[in-house]
Amino acid sequence: MRIAMIGTGYVGLVSGACFADFGHQVTCVDKDAVKIAALCRGEIPIFEPGLDALVATNVKASRLDFTTDLTGPVAEADAVFIAVGTPSRRGDGHADLSYVYAAAREIAAAIRGFTVVITKSTVPVGTGDEVERLIFEANPSADAVVASNPEFLREGAAIRDFKFPDRIVIGTSDERGRKVLGDIYRPLSLNQAPLMFTVRRTAELIKYAANAFLATKITFINEIADLSEKVGADIQEVARGIGLDNRIGTKFLHAGPGYGGSCFPKDTRALVKIAEDHDAQLRVVESVVAVNDNRKRAMARKVAHALGDNLRNKTIAVLGLAFKPDTDDMREAPSIPLITGLCDMGAKVRAFDPASMKEARRELPDIDYCDDAYSCADGADALVIVTEWVQFRALDLPRLKRIMKQPIVVDLRNIYRAEDMQDLGFVYESIGRNKSKNV
Ligand SMILES: NC(=O)c1ccc[n+]([C@@H]2O[C@H](COP(=O)([O-])OP(=O)(O)OC[C@H]3O[C@@H](n4cnc5c(N)ncnc54)[C@H](O)[C@@H]3O)[C@@H](O)[C@H]2O)c1
Repeated sequence: MRIAMIGTGYVGLVSGACFADFGHQVTCVDKDAVKIAALCRGEIPIFEPGLDALVATNVKASRLDFTTDLTGPVAEADAVFIAVGTPSRRGDGHADLSYVYAAAREIAAAIRGFTVVITKSTVPVGTGDEVERLIFEANPSADAVVASNPEFLREGAAIRDFKFPDRIVIGTSDERGRKVLGDIYRPLSLNQAPLMFTVRRTAELIKYAANAFLATKITFINEIADLSEKVGADIQEVARGIGLDNRIGTKFLHAGPGYGGSCFPKDTRALVKIAEDHDAQLRVVESVVAVNDNRKRAMARKVAHALGDNLRNKTIAVLGLAFKPDTDDMREAPSIPLITGLCDMGAKVRAFDPASMKEARRELPDIDYCDDAYSCADGADALVIVTEWVQFRALDLPRLKRIMKQPIVVDLRNIYRAEDMQDLGFVYESIGRNKSKNV
């Protein structure tokens, strides 16, 4: 199969490289000339474990290339995937579809022969109808089918998720479209990945419903964590105790500072707007959005509380900035409202993240960046663990205690045991675990 991937961000680059690895001929297209030039030099613009090797192997085998011009690749393609961004529209929270529609118009003009155009971007229900309308408006004689194939990969584990997906959702009722997409994904049937064919609108809604459900699970356990703290229960045991029930499951039950990232915040907001547009109300999802937004800034108050509610001229060391480990993605990271909140209360903030500091400098230009966890903690009044990178799970705690001005640790990911920290002489705060009330 010949594939053109329009948009070479996290999803486009990972999907393109994986499709090439399956043996397809893939061209990744992006408007961003700097990104494409870097990729042509063999540089990977994002941090994603294993991606550099996967791209290099497939470029070397001449199955993968990069360009800024979609004309040739689209003309030759059997399948054109749209994997451009769908960020929150400024002001109202709707998904901004301008990139998708612009890509659709450009694709329409370049199509030659039978082509399946597939939206891989997360798009509101009905977007496929509009993409189809735009394509036939711009090119009435095009022989094209528009399908939906939402992507479920997670940053940080993207290649594995793409190659061993829980399911592949394909939304089209057109037989020719189903055949092309079935052929593209056939290599995955060896991994027993279930291919689910459905109609386009159902596929579009599946993606939003999945993200909203996961965001709800996280938000639910976060609220139960707050209650645990008040009543003297241990949230990790509560999570395990409910998660072992197969109907609930143990995943996405880790209490923390609130969800962030490039998908959950914008997709939950967009889903609420989709429902409003269709005269339906999603009260649960509305609450999830509101609770999560409040939570991120509340984390700054939690840190202030650990320091006697006075942060003026205090130095706070923050470990972890990316919205989760193994990525450099700072989009809607909980670290941003947390650090802004700390600064607003008069604190001086220093931070270290193994991968995201370049990205972070754009979002948080006024804090100090350190070379490692220890230089970050040196002389600090408190240490806050925000992202649970593996290297923060085994810090030299006696060393930390020696170099910090005050031995206060606020662990927003519950990666240490309260008893161990207290034995070492730390004042230790975490999420949903209040030792003093534990009986
Ligand atoms: N990041 C994730 O983990 C993830 C997971 C599943 C789904 N998604 C969805 O996939 C979509 C893409 O997300 P992303 O994180 O890869 O975005 P991204 O911002 O990393 O990449 C989008 C790319 O599209 C390019 N682009 C925009 N318009 C273009 C055009 N007309 N022609 C060519 N290139 C164009 C941009 O320059 C950018 O490089 C979104 O809808 C997102 O919700 C993302």
